[in-house]
Amino acid sequence: MLRAISERAMKAPTTGGMQLYSVVVTRKEPLRTDLAEAHFSQPAAAGAPVIVTVCADLHRFERWCRISGTEPGFENFLSFTSAMLDATIFAQQFCTIAEMEGLGTCYLGTTLWQAPKISELLHLPDHVVPVCGIAVGWPYGEGEATERLPLEALYHTETYTDFSDEEVKELYKVKDEYPANRGYVEEHSKPSLAHVFTEVRYPRQMNEEFTASIKSYLERQGLL
Ligand SMILES: Cc1cc2nc3c(=O)[nH]c(=O)nc-3n(C[C@H](O)[C@H](O)[C@H](O)COP(=O)(O)O)c2cc1C
Repeated sequence: MLRAISERAMKAPTTGGMQLYSVVVTRKEPLRTDLAEAHFSQPAAAGAPVIVTVCADLHRFERWCRISGTEPGFENFLSFTSAMLDATIFAQQFCTIAEMEGLGTCYLGTTLWQAPKISELLHLPDHVVPVCGIAVGWPYGEGEATERLPLEALYHTETYTDFSDEEVKELYKVKDEYPANRGYVEEHSKPSLAHVFTEVRYPRQMNEEFTASIKSYLERQGLL
């Protein structure tokens, strides 16, 4: 089933038709658990029977170029971003099709954060970078639709029209007032939901530490 979903998802467009991505499907123990641990054992990763890792992959294409007698110039950030976009577009196609088939999916944003560790576990060669982890399984039931900003928050006509502070506040009301979000604010004794994002979920120090780790990992491979 995962192969069939991947076959449909790979109809997605890719940069120049180069298909600069690969997919690693992990389900056997102990590797699945090791991989879930690399994702900090977050519930979606630890509880899913399958973890799909979608990788930006310049390696395979570069090999084909060299075998064909030509030298690719892909050791740079532009090429990495092309591969990352190819991987990301495939990943969302995969999730949409999987969910249409009744499976449940959850992205694991910890994939790039933990790229060095995940690369080691999955034996990724140089120029293959894990960008999207997807936990896949049969869902227990229908999940609840979560909140979204109103369309006006992100939809601009012709050019970008910035907002007044009052308008921004109004647009984010739907998030501030969403019951689960109110719960997080209470749980962490913070003055607002924005504080939960900046001080608990994505604090500056953590963002900077993982940036340094991703940067040195990409630099070692000449992709930055
Ligand atoms: C790039 C990306 C990374 C994400 N990372 C995680 C994650 O690490 N753990 C998790 O439980 N959910 C993760 N999610 C899921 C989001 O938290 C979720 O989509 C969002 O809260 C909205 O909920 P919904 O998709 O159920 O509507 C991620 C989603 C995206 C697009």
